[in-house]
Amino acid sequence: MVFAGACSSDPNTPNKNTDLIDAKVDSLMSLMTLEEKIGQMNQYSGFMDFTGPRPKEGQQAKKLEHLKKGWVGSMLNVHGVENVMAVQKIAVEESRLGIPLIMGFDVIHGYKTISPIPLAETASWNLEAIQKSAEMAAEEASAAGIHWTFAPMVDISRDARWGRVMEGAGEDPYLGSLVAKARVKGFQGDDLSAPNTLAATAKHFAGYGFAESGKDYNTVDIGTSTLHNMVNPPFKAAVEADVKTFMNAFNVLNGIPATGNKYLQRDLLKNQWDFKGFVVSDWDSVGEMIAHGFAKDGRAAAKYAVSAGSDMDMESYHYIEQLASLVEDGEVSEDLINDAVKRILKVKFELGLFDNPYQYCDEKREKEVIGQQKFHDQVFDLAKQSIVLLKNENNLLPLKKSGQKIALIGELAADKTSPLGNWIIAAEDNSAVSVLEGLEKYDATNEITFENGVKLVTSQPTFAQELKINNTDSAGIAEAVASAKNADVVVMVLGEHGRQSGEGRSRTSLDLPGLQQQMLEAVYEVNPNIVLVLNNGRPLTINWADKHIPAIVEAWQLGSQAGNAIASVLYGDYNPSGKLPMSFPKNVGQIPLYYNYKSTGRPAPKGENEVFWSTYIDSSNDPLYPFGYGLSYTNFDYKNLTIDNRYKEEGKVLVSVEVQNTGKREGIETAQLYLQDEYASVTRPVRELKGFKQVELAPGEIKTIEFELTNAELGFYDNDGEWLVESGSFHIYLGGDSTSQLKQSFQITVK
Ligand code: GLC
Repeated sequence: MVFAGACSSDPNTPNKNTDLIDAKVDSLMSLMTLEEKIGQMNQYSGFMDFTGPRPKEGQQAKKLEHLKKGWVGSMLNVHGVENVMAVQKIAVEESRLGIPLIMGFDVIHGYKTISPIPLAETASWNLEAIQKSAEMAAEEASAAGIHWTFAPMVDISRDARWGRVMEGAGEDPYLGSLVAKARVKGFQGDDLSAPNTLAATAKHFAGYGFAESGKDYNTVDIGTSTLHNMVNPPFKAAVEADVKTFMNAFNVLNGIPATGNKYLQRDLLKNQWDFKGFVVSDWDSVGEMIAHGFAKDGRAAAKYAVSAGSDMDMESYHYIEQLASLVEDGEVSEDLINDAVKRILKVKFELGLFDNPYQYCDEKREKEVIGQQKFHDQVFDLAKQSIVLLKNENNLLPLKKSGQKIALIGELAADKTSPLGNWIIAAEDNSAVSVLEGLEKYDATNEITFENGVKLVTSQPTFAQELKINNTDSAGIAEAVASAKNADVVVMVLGEHGRQSGEGRSRTSLDLPGLQQQMLEAVYEVNPNIVLVLNNGRPLTINWADKHIPAIVEAWQLGSQAGNAIASVLYGDYNPSGKLPMSFPKNVGQIPLYYNYKSTGRPAPKGENEVFWSTYIDSSNDPLYPFGYGLSYTNFDYKNLTIDNRYKEEGKVLVSVEVQNTGKREGIETAQLYLQDEYASVTRPVRELKGFKQVELAPGEIKTIEFELTNAELGFYDNDGEWLVESGSFHIYLGGDSTSQLKQSFQITVK
């Protein structure tokens, strides 16, 4: 390895010394040929799984040849110490300069020990637990030789038709920004060069969650106010948390593909936000600019992408095939190449890869770290906190622990793969604790019978295969009805297959898929004492269930310990505390549906028999369940909301409220503060989340919660992307969800 001597850093010098790292990068760059520089900008998918369209035939041999030439800077989808060592040794020991690869992987919600899907984790509103979840994922993935995760996905979305809502933090930019920071810090830790931390990726920049009609990869056309106030904040928060990389998005944003969007990647990200890391393209998003109708051919695509600030090319091959000649022909300045390569090398130095390219490749550590019981305990704890109680009439829940005949129904109840959710490309299928297992082994002496009921799918798909839903074969319903007839209580686990959400899984309906609704109604006919447990990766339009079913539990896809967490909540040993991070629509026609909507000039509700109001003639505007909503086995009361307006003297407004547990058992409540700026130079939402605090209260206990509002909460981005605070009238709403009516108002005058 020619370069080894030049990079051996002083062992006492931390890899955070940016001046030293810059000096090392410059000295390495001075040795590199143009092709070797471009090689750092080239990322190949490994010789294992793939997470995009199947690699083009014959590419594998070329990848090996390029590895040996030092024309590969990174690989993805290579995991496990043995496999990572195999390719890293080629790059380090067979290429001229021996520059180590940075190994990337989609560690989205765990590596082998799987935590709840990110949308479910967000429902816990527990930022510390979310950060720890990312730390755990980094421990396991780094032990498997991985240096870099393509997470957190921070795309805000209000459209549950889009399959990737499972991967994000829901519809709100304030909550989404805090979750983004927590996850970046969890993955990267305090020392990126430590062998148990990962470089993180804020993705997909930008606007991907606003794909028209919720159809994946579709056009995104949004206004500047939405871009600045809804889309960008979590990305900016990730930069503030020192995220090392960004990934751009497949979509066009207002006509310009994100990959070729200079405003996004250079003007905003690298200049205005001063982002020092590097941008990796999404899978072949460089090449897809041809299909977008933006680039004539691969050469143009490479030119537009590198000029716009895409530093690394994932799996399009256009950089490695076109950039050298573009530079030689004077169409692309070598300065752009140098900037990209410096950014990439800097992250590799910060990871400690030049000190020891194999420090993440310790087979002993791999065996010891992955799958530890403490990780299962941790995901069990977070899974319980992610469960949202949507309905509990007549206190059907919690279940009695003895003397009950419980009919457990639904194929998903025995499914040990679906509870893992999507984006589990390193975890083993069939590795989750199912609801059936969780209930059977629980410390209760009830008689449990189980019936699959109607089939949900006709084939078990792999990660990259299409799912086939059973819409015709009602076999199993009769058995389900029969088992329900004699039961004291029926627990039905219904919802979506684990690969029915995620990338490439948009739906036009949000109803229970297949024949599950038919089975639910048939069972209800013989026994209405039903607890519906939802396993799903997105909000569902469960109107009938909401009207008829006495108890409904939103249990998402909770990961490796799903069944144990669900059993703990059903039996009441954990009092559900989750709150929805996304509105549940009544019907798909309401989408995009979100709580922080604009008033319009004709705000509903309309008067009786009037039509000229912003609403529908066949539905109200209300969601089935609102953002921030979640019940408990106890009750909470909010009172004595007070405001101490010190804006004039100190630039802040102090808010306090009393929360009381008025029920008979302890519980955790997430008190939420919403703000309305009544009138502004850019219209503001009718309310916006600007603070939340979790409190644990014993029966009867009262706690005072305090919030502080400053310009950081009172302002908004104007259409030039500048942060603005304006004089005017503001309203505060405080409560347990986004519909709270406990209100106080105040005025501020901005000098
Ligand atoms: C996929 C996804 C992206 C992922 C990448 C690598 O297409 O869009 O989120 O990180 O490819 O697997």
